[in-house]
Amino acid sequence: MYAQWNERYAVGVELLDNQHQRLFALVNELFALIRAGKADREINDFIQKVRDYVDVHFSDEERMMTRAGFPGLEMHRAEHREMLAQVRRYQERAARGDPVNPTSLLEEMVIWLHSHLARSDRAYVEHFKAHGIT
Ligand SMILES: [Fe+2]
Ligand SMILES: [Fe+2]
Repeated sequence: MYAQWNERYAVGVELLDNQHQRLFALVNELFALIRAGKADREINDFIQKVRDYVDVHFSDEERMMTRAGFPGLEMHRAEHREMLAQVRRYQERAARGDPVNPTSLLEEMVIWLHSHLARSDRAYVEHFKAHGIT
């Protein structure tokens, strides 16, 4: 196992905590693919899976922020967009036939988990609690 969810990342909303745990599972899946020396096709399928899942998670999170009237929504949404753009850039590279470096994707994903989940996502915890979002 490469990265593991722990209480430090808990946001206290079951759906979102489950999704965050799934994001950690995806990082571990990528680590396993790299270790097994998987071919580009499998890596590209994986990138599409990450993109789809991240999309769902960001939409759910933003919907809850909207419902709670979270004041940091726009800034948070911008961070989400930037992360999605990063994933898209890997897909564009692959589509052009350029080599995709899965290790750099892995490193970027770990950075998101640490910086976005542990910092930006935690910023809505108190606000959600105060607005009864669980
Ligand atoms: Fe977020
Ligand atoms: Fe999140």
